[in-house]
Amino acid sequence: MSRVAVVPGSFDPVTLGHIDVIARSADLYDELHVVVVHNPNKTALLDLEDRVQLISRAISDAGLGANITVASWGEGLLVNYCTKVGARVIIKGIRNQADVTYETPMALVNRNLSGIETLFMLPEPGHAYVSSSLVRQVASLHGDVRPYVPHVVAEFLAARSHSN
Ligand code: PNS
Repeated sequence: MSRVAVVPGSFDPVTLGHIDVIARSADLYDELHVVVVHNPNKTALLDLEDRVQLISRAISDAGLGANITVASWGEGLLVNYCTKVGARVIIKGIRNQADVTYETPMALVNRNLSGIETLFMLPEPGHAYVSSSLVRQVASLHGDVRPYVPHVVAEFLAARSHSN
């Protein structure tokens, strides 16, 4: 039986920290689903389809992808997506204590709802301070986001900022 895991998130936009967690997770599981989920508590910069496209291109540029599916999920609970694809595990990257505090209730609710476990993964320490919200802020102020995001994302944000 193949082992399937899900890496969910807003990915608004995907960062090098996310790609690191995706790469490590794809190495551990037979099949990995990277799922862009609308977070009702956040106002999004990019639409879901752009986020899916950028993740797909960044994964392929990183030489990954053989066992990775990128999808969006706008149809309710994340655990329903996991059940649909046969995943018993959700993987979330953890940078610091604040992430543990934020992620723990979601992990427990997801397990109560479905029995699906959440595993917390430590990314490369060099990415520990990178967040999508910081990238959005730097990009909105026309700063250089290249150290924090895949090349395709930096290009996409630069093109958007020139057209605004
Ligand atoms: O990258 P984020 O914003 O921290 O990701 C959070 C996300 C989108 C994974 C979370 O909000 C989520 O799972 N939303 C889907 C709705 C859901 O299943 N809610 C119940 C358990 S949290």
